[in-house]
Amino acid sequence: MNGLLKFITCGSVDDGKSTLIGHMLYDAKLLFTDQEKALELDSRVGSRDGKMDYSLLLDGLLAEREQGITIDVAYRYFTTERRSFIVADTPGHEEYTRNMAVGASFAKLAVILVDASQGLLVQTRRHARICALMGIRHFLFAVNKMDLAGYRETEYKRIEKDLWKLGVDLELPHVEAIPVSATEGDNVTYKSKRMPWYRGKTLLEYLETVDVDDKEQEEGFVMPVQRVCRPNASFRGFQGQPACGTLSVGEEVTILPSGEKAEVQALLSADEQAERVGEGEPATVQLNREIDVSRGCVLTKGIGLLVSSLFTATLLWLDDTELAEGKNFLIRIGTKMLPATVMAIKYKIDINSGENIADSRLRKNEIAVCDLALSEKAVFDTFKRHRELGSFILIDRVTNMTSACGVIEHSLRRSDNVTWQKLDITREFRAKRLGQRPVTLWFTGLSGAGKSALANEIEKALTVQGKHTMLLDGDNVRLGLNRNLGFKEQDRIENIRRTAEVARLMNDAGLIVLTSFISPYRSDRRKAREIIGAGNFIEIYVSTPLEECERRDVKGLYKKARAGDLPNFTGISSPYEAPEHASVEIDTSRCTLEEAAEYVMEQIQKYL
Ligand code: ADX
Repeated sequence: MNGLLKFITCGSVDDGKSTLIGHMLYDAKLLFTDQEKALELDSRVGSRDGKMDYSLLLDGLLAEREQGITIDVAYRYFTTERRSFIVADTPGHEEYTRNMAVGASFAKLAVILVDASQGLLVQTRRHARICALMGIRHFLFAVNKMDLAGYRETEYKRIEKDLWKLGVDLELPHVEAIPVSATEGDNVTYKSKRMPWYRGKTLLEYLETVDVDDKEQEEGFVMPVQRVCRPNASFRGFQGQPACGTLSVGEEVTILPSGEKAEVQALLSADEQAERVGEGEPATVQLNREIDVSRGCVLTKGIGLLVSSLFTATLLWLDDTELAEGKNFLIRIGTKMLPATVMAIKYKIDINSGENIADSRLRKNEIAVCDLALSEKAVFDTFKRHRELGSFILIDRVTNMTSACGVIEHSLRRSDNVTWQKLDITREFRAKRLGQRPVTLWFTGLSGAGKSALANEIEKALTVQGKHTMLLDGDNVRLGLNRNLGFKEQDRIENIRRTAEVARLMNDAGLIVLTSFISPYRSDRRKAREIIGAGNFIEIYVSTPLEECERRDVKGLYKKARAGDLPNFTGISSPYEAPEHASVEIDTSRCTLEEAAEYVMEQIQKYL
């Protein structure tokens, strides 16, 4: 029996996807008797005038039946004498791209439906592109509704030619096509007598025999470490699932990112001592010497993976909100999770036509080639060489939702050529000389909330205490260092990033820094916290309500914004995301400036 085949079916609303699989199950006698009976009964009231409606079998969800479309990823399991299958059935409409991506990420083969009476449509390209992006290498195009095309060879050949061209355009490694009629059953499980000109396999035969193991693609041994196992002082093992290759006792492994080498002393496979472990088996590896290995490190043999903090990737954006350059996420590559920033959206790829389009924003279900920067060096590979270490997901740091999935095209060497220069006069030394703990007091809140006035008071109070300080004020910094930035999301992200970097340098110089920026996005403040260092970052939320800020309207900007003369104004036409766990919160509408300053001074003493 051939190995398990996981495949995905893609098609548009009326392509006959569910009918095709339903017919295959029915013909191959893969139904239970009660299912068969139910199908006959349902069909009497179905959409085919009492004839058998095979799609009813697959459209298991009530809502799908009612709307006549498939709306989720439905996984079906079936077994023939020659093979077991899991099929992911996903909706084809563009707004369900996320579902298709999820289904495709699990599959090794895609069955893409093409309507013979309509030929290759834009959605056929879209389906193939998403599947290819998610790592599928085998494509079967089922050219359906041949009955409506009079079972004519000319019609099929024309479509087949377009499909070969599509395969070349999208660089699909393996492409096959079969002319079928899902409703009538031609070439589904039995060879059609009505298409004697077709001499290839039936759909079921193809699925039962196709070889989807492309192991020649992936060389060497690779095991991302999931867990360091240390049950007692004498045992230390690294656990994970080899992504490819085999490893034997006595062989030498290289541990990335450090590049250190060690010999395999012992191996465990499912708690049993083993001489060798291979792809997919849970394994524990013991080395012959102490090496610093943690979750996210990768054990390798005979393969040079990439170790860097910058790469170019193709992203499929799945979030309802738009992606702007500079946005920060958590990235998961293999077993490693770390912060990452989308530095630049280089160009978008039209999901239907493949055209490259310049744009600095990415909307839901769009694909783009982007540069990403990781917070530290990590181990990865190009997707072409390695499916597992070449793909990743981006997780929104506030909502925890998967915002995007992507594949790595190549590493950017830029970062490798710059290394941190060690200095003799250290941060600690400079701080000690000034006799203080250099922290950053990060004031955030709406325009007019009183941030600048309050920061100014606090700086004076600190100076009186003999502290050495520097105040970075939003308006002032925007007149100099950040004069090239506006108020669109990507500009604000960059505004905050630069400010955080400057604050960090000033902390390095030994100074206590106060910053007064609206800094409306939670993810940016989180990134600022990372740049400055969590222990030195004190978030002060000036929570004066919008109504009060608008009533004060010191600079007349709220008035302008309400009149529509000032776009992207925070609180009016651009969002403000309040901190959830600020170190200090102060509403300046309830007290005088002096009282507010006194309260904040009291609260921050413990950090100084
Ligand atoms: S931030 O959002 O990027 O952190 P920042 O604090 O630097 O903003 O600058 C805010 C100041 O710029 C406000 O106090 C206000 O004086 C001015 N400003 C001009 N246009 C806008 C706008 N569209 N939204 C917010 N502030 C604006």
